[in-house]
Amino acid sequence: METVFPVLDSAYWQARYATGRDGWDAQAITPPLRAYFDQLAVEPQPRILIPGAGRAYEAEYLHQLGFQQVFVADLAPEPLQALAARVPDFPREHLLLADFFALPAAPPYDLIVEQTFFCALNPQLRPAYAQQCAALLRPGGTLMGLLFDTDFGPGPEPPFGGTKEEYRAYFAPYFTFRHFEAATNSLRPRQGRELFICLKKA
Ligand SMILES: C[S@@+](CC[C@H](N)C(=O)[O-])C[C@H]1O[C@@H](n2cnc3c(N)ncnc32)[C@H](O)[C@@H]1O
Repeated sequence: METVFPVLDSAYWQARYATGRDGWDAQAITPPLRAYFDQLAVEPQPRILIPGAGRAYEAEYLHQLGFQQVFVADLAPEPLQALAARVPDFPREHLLLADFFALPAAPPYDLIVEQTFFCALNPQLRPAYAQQCAALLRPGGTLMGLLFDTDFGPGPEPPFGGTKEEYRAYFAPYFTFRHFEAATNSLRPRQGRELFICLKKA
């Protein structure tokens, strides 16, 4: 029987935040992203997008490191308000209450950061996710982050799992693969279940 997915719209995500069904929220930056950001040059200031950012501890961390062109996008207002409350000097115009798939391609981003957004989308949108990431990046720009390489079962609600081989097919038309391997420094509950990816837009 075909799986019937709920409509994963703003109201759906806002309700999950409002009812505390937010088990993805690590409440702090995760070790793989922290390690990557710690070696990233602040100058020249890269334009960074975190789509499906949630409460965006990554944006907070980058902001503290001195990155000034960090943009977060989310369909739900609650997590953006949470970031604004935690980091009062985070630029309000960098909080994008918007659908990732409707974000404009110009000006382009240098870096897109992925963490538990891809797995939150209806799996039918995965080819479009790869295409939109490519459209939003400048040539030579980077898509990096984490993808679950695990099976969450057939449930109709996120997270949705998958495999390295499946994912490779979505990104191969647009990106060269710098890194696409099991993460070695995942959060404990995610250990052995996620890929660390670093892809360059061709
Ligand atoms: C599983 S949560 C992950 C949040 C965050 N990345 C983290 O690691 O805590 C997925 C997030 O994506 C957002 N989202 C879902 N579909 C979206 C879309 N099409 N455009 C922008 N944000 C979206 C949801 O509101 C939610 O905050």
